[in-house]
Amino acid sequence: MNTLTIIGSQWGDEGKGKIADMLSEDADWVVRYNGGPNAGHTVVDDTGEFKFHHLPSASLHEDCRVLLGPGMVINPIGLVEELDQLQEKRAIEPDIFLGARAHVITPYHPVVEVLEKAKEEVGTTGRGIGPTYEDKAARSGFRINDLFRSDFEDRFRDRLEKLKERWDDPSDLDRIEEDRFFDVVDRLRDMVSEAKIVNSSPVLNKAIDEGKSVIFEGAQGTLLDIDFGTYPYVTSSNPTVGGIGTGAGVSPTRVERRIGVVKAYTTRVGKGPMPTEDEGDLGERLRDNGDEYGATTGRPRRCGPLDLVGLKFALDLNDMTEIALTKLDVLSGFDEIKVASHYMKDGEKITEFPSTAEELSECEPSYITFEGWDEDISHASSLEDLPSEAQGYVDFLEKELDVPISIVSIGKKRSQTIMVD
Ligand code: GDP
Ligand code: IMO
Ligand code: MG
Repeated sequence: MNTLTIIGSQWGDEGKGKIADMLSEDADWVVRYNGGPNAGHTVVDDTGEFKFHHLPSASLHEDCRVLLGPGMVINPIGLVEELDQLQEKRAIEPDIFLGARAHVITPYHPVVEVLEKAKEEVGTTGRGIGPTYEDKAARSGFRINDLFRSDFEDRFRDRLEKLKERWDDPSDLDRIEEDRFFDVVDRLRDMVSEAKIVNSSPVLNKAIDEGKSVIFEGAQGTLLDIDFGTYPYVTSSNPTVGGIGTGAGVSPTRVERRIGVVKAYTTRVGKGPMPTEDEGDLGERLRDNGDEYGATTGRPRRCGPLDLVGLKFALDLNDMTEIALTKLDVLSGFDEIKVASHYMKDGEKITEFPSTAEELSECEPSYITFEGWDEDISHASSLEDLPSEAQGYVDFLEKELDVPISIVSIGKKRSQTIMVD
């Protein structure tokens, strides 16, 4: 099968970067279709750790073409920095293509995010994601192809002046360094020539028709989806399988393997309900063992046991064909492992993930408990190498979620991965 997608099944940071890097070694194209530099995808290779924000995690594989799809929001300053870092740290210049229709995060978008209080009230990453998608919906945004037009600078200045009229105190907008931004846009035009600003739909559909291997790398996670997540505590795009249709121009029906990345426990960054959050010892131990600090903002992640209610919703919504279970090694050393099988609300059993954040915040998780294991499992090479309790946990999840677990990740490195046949 030549087409696959890697999608987060929880609230992001499931380990998509590691899985995408592993599966893209021989890929022809790897495509990001949603979000922007709010993503932080970590890949560990022989040289060390690299964190991707705009670029797909396949960018370390030099033969692979990488495409930042039209559903993305792209910050020229951040993208140029990322390309420079890849050059400095790995001497790699990825073969990069940009969707002509992708929207541009300008220096005023992160400022607007603060003025709109989204950072404070939603706990956003502060990367200007929401305001850029707002401009897209309001039909007042700049798209990547606009960067190549001679009137871009004039249009940008006009837009900034108009924006200032919206706020009583626009002094933060006065501090924007327009000339620095235009210099970076010039550099980006040099680094990615106009020939590589593409109409993604025909390009990718043709590649699929020719039997090329095409991978769609989701950012964020299903429960952060603007439509199906815990609104308003969500991101502003569709990380889910439907996002591939609108964000890459390829029908989701063409994507044969849909791999849901599932962390062996739950984490969340930013605000919003998380029924299994543990603010005591368990949460702290998971954070320490799992090194649960944001790859983009460095914020500590909220941690707790696995939540089957949210997971089942996510797996169904995306019609996942496989699961990549990550960070199982982090559970070593716990006497017992808890998993939320359902919620209770007003004395009633809830098995379906609620559609409002209010309702979810009133749900109390009900747990089933498994015996834990002590052994370090980070060097296991097959499921049979795992202690029986860990094997039992994997078996239970596969049966309960009714989706085959095809990958079990037991460490940050590529070698710490069990491919289940
Ligand atoms: P992403 O946003 O889904 O790509 O995930 P992040 O990169 O933000 O966070 C996942 C973190 O867990 C990164 O630091 C990874 O290096 C690390 N990681 C991935 N898989 C495993 C695993 O199986 N075990 C451990 N211990 N760490 C892992
Ligand atoms: P990856 O791709 C985890 C969260 C933010 C905030 C909400 C909205 O690394 O899994 P935004 O800046 O998108 O408007 O913030 O979404 N968020 C993420 N959480 N992983 C991510 O990406 C995230 N991207 C956004 O913390 O709660
Ligand atoms: Mg991340």
